[in-house]
Amino acid sequence: MPAGHEEAEESEGRIVSGQARLDDAGLDLTLRPRRLDDFPGQERAKEALRIFIAAARERGEALDHVLLYGPPGLGKTSLAHIIANELEVGIRTTSGPAIERPGDLAAILTNLGEHDVLFIDEIHRLNRTVEEILYPAMEDYALDLIVGKGPSARSLRLNLPRFTLVGATTRAGSLTSPLRDRFGVIHRLEFYTEDELTSIMHRSARILGVPVDGAGAREIARRSRGTPRVANRLLKRLRDFAQIKAGGAIDGGVATEGLAMLEIDELGLDLIDRQLLRTIIEKYDGGPVGVETLAAAISEEAETIEDVYEPYLLQIGFLQRSPRGRIAARLAYEHLGKRPPGEAAGQGRLW
Ligand SMILES: Nc1ncnc2c1ncn2[C@@H]1O[C@H](COP(=O)(O)OP(=O)(O)OP(=O)(O)O)[C@@H](O)[C@H]1O
Ligand SMILES: [Mg+2]
Repeated sequence: MPAGHEEAEESEGRIVSGQARLDDAGLDLTLRPRRLDDFPGQERAKEALRIFIAAARERGEALDHVLLYGPPGLGKTSLAHIIANELEVGIRTTSGPAIERPGDLAAILTNLGEHDVLFIDEIHRLNRTVEEILYPAMEDYALDLIVGKGPSARSLRLNLPRFTLVGATTRAGSLTSPLRDRFGVIHRLEFYTEDELTSIMHRSARILGVPVDGAGAREIARRSRGTPRVANRLLKRLRDFAQIKAGGAIDGGVATEGLAMLEIDELGLDLIDRQLLRTIIEKYDGGPVGVETLAAAISEEAETIEDVYEPYLLQIGFLQRSPRGRIAARLAYEHLGKRPPGEAAGQGRLW
């Protein structure tokens, strides 16, 4: 498991969070695809990567630096490892917060092999002095060192092996533009479709040795918030449920019953999602309400709301963002069985 997942604890207990939790470490590793062909979904990113990887290999060059961004649990870390596998090069893994001083990064860079992948998770959390070392390293495969002190100090340029930086972040907006500009390949990972998640479920069930039928796999897929990590986690929980209650196999009925027990509704929303929406609707009249205010109202970190909860609620059209804050959309009212404002009075408002 990559370093820098200390905030994973924040959402302990929240089964539909895309964020990694401590008990995911083994599961993530076992279920992580190793090759592009073994990785369903993200067709656009995969297609582009296939071409760039083949071209780099044919020319005997290092692949251009790759930035992968998007919500937690969609496969950024998996893809970084797949890129290294497909290139048949080594991979060195670290994370933004783990690199404290420029010297730490210099040590990593000088130890890379020719054409190796350096994977920096949470790259938006690199500190500025470390980031500045990265610029010449990415651009010229060079390390600029200052030797000596005071008037006798001079700068020394050291050549580095040609390497590929793969950066991952849940917040591309927090990257400085000089850093972002140095990536040749930038991909936003998308939420997965139900079909893609269904095929991921069949694959994971095979690896875990759990019998699951088509209806069972689809039911899990439907309620996984478009996120493979969530789907894998639900599968693991349902495996226990099926073992105790249904002789081990997961069919549609077992999945539906087990997911209901976990209080995950038919759209994959859990208690906290519903609490978030209900708070906006009941306490703030549907919004707009600022994310900090909302965070305080439901006792969560604003950053967790933005990175983990919100992306899916935005994607399914339950939430809207405005400069003045978050707004509950009509679909959210309907899902919670509430009457959208304006409707009682018969006014044709937007929501
Ligand atoms: N396309 C996929 N097919 C099969 N499994 C996948 C796919 N994408 C992700 N997974 C599974 O989901 C889990 C999480 O994936 P991964 O760790 O790569 O996500 P991430 O985007 O790096 O998340 P984070 O932002 O938390 O670091 C892993 O167990 C991986 O096996
Ligand atoms: Mg990751």
